[in-house]
Amino acid sequence: MKVLITGGGGFIGYRLALALLKRGTLADAQGKQAAISQITLLDIAFPAQVDPRLTCVTGDLTDKALLAKLMGSDTGSVFHLASIVSGGAEADFDLGLRINLDGTRALLETCRAQARPPRYVFASTCAAFGGDLPEVVDDSTTPNPQSSYGAQKVCCEYLTTDYNRKGFIDGRSIRLPTISVRAGKPNLAASSFASGIIREPLAGVVSPCPVDPETCVWILSPSKVVDDFIHAHDLPSSAWGVNRVLNLPGITTSVKEMVDALRKIAGDQVADLVEWKPDARVQAIVKTWPARFSTARAVKLGFVADQNIEGIIGDYISEQGIKV
Ligand SMILES: NC(=O)c1ccc[n+]([C@@H]2O[C@H](COP(=O)([O-])OP(=O)(O)OC[C@H]3O[C@@H](n4cnc5c(N)ncnc54)[C@H](O)[C@@H]3O)[C@@H](O)[C@H]2O)c1
Repeated sequence: MKVLITGGGGFIGYRLALALLKRGTLADAQGKQAAISQITLLDIAFPAQVDPRLTCVTGDLTDKALLAKLMGSDTGSVFHLASIVSGGAEADFDLGLRINLDGTRALLETCRAQARPPRYVFASTCAAFGGDLPEVVDDSTTPNPQSSYGAQKVCCEYLTTDYNRKGFIDGRSIRLPTISVRAGKPNLAASSFASGIIREPLAGVVSPCPVDPETCVWILSPSKVVDDFIHAHDLPSSAWGVNRVLNLPGITTSVKEMVDALRKIAGDQVADLVEWKPDARVQAIVKTWPARFSTARAVKLGFVADQNIEGIIGDYISEQGIKV
């Protein structure tokens, strides 16, 4: 089975590729685990060192000829993660629209040209929600994105559902919470602080926090989100039914609780490296995102969240081999 991961050089995409290498199989169209024969990653940039078992292709998602070449007519699984993320799409409307919407359309059309409808997992976002929201967002809450990024992602959810309905793909969209702790360098996501306030202090670096301590965020760890991508892929089509969009489970934590947990685990010297520096631009985006969810459908379908923020920070510390 051939697998394509767009945004495969990015934080989650590359981790997903490594997890698939380790696992070696994915569910095929009949739901049987089939050996993965090739994993192709498409991105405009890759980490300096990549696993030689991966086929890494540098190129643009909107390049239809390249997509056709990469996918041929026999790609069984597509994970679509390439994106101009929230802060980037807000700063450059045209770029966001071109990559997030036009790029997704190009990819969906290439999927449509496959001999069999591929399983297609789309990385959407809880930034699909915004505006006047209930205290707790649940599976019946209507998306009302208040950012260009969120709007572009919701458009792509609808396209995924419609291409699925037409039988062009076996499509599934998962709305990710904010992923924390993100290793490596920050990206342009407005939620970047939710990793920065843990990662930078643990590296001995000052981290300016652009939101109030009481700001709550809805988060999920990198390892759980990778498991969720694979689970979303492997669930049988019948489990999804006609509703092809899902809010993933996560945990609600305030920024203060994150820093308190960091203090408990790594001490005052580390936690004191977080500096409170409110930034109106970031606050304006983040405050539109819901932080409390009830994800009954996802839980019923077998998706799993982290236990608590201490566990997420602890996992990051042990994965990175940090001494505290
Ligand atoms: N990390 C989070 O907190 C979070 C939350 C919600 C949703 N998501 C979604 O999950 C996906 C992965 O997120 P991530 O954290 O790994 O982000 P990331 O920025 O690390 O990865 C996105 C990748 O897309 C690539 N890309 C951008 N433009 C491209 C183009 N024109 N052609 C090909 N590749 C291009 C980037 O180079 C990058 O490597 C994204 O779609 C993002 O919107 C992430």
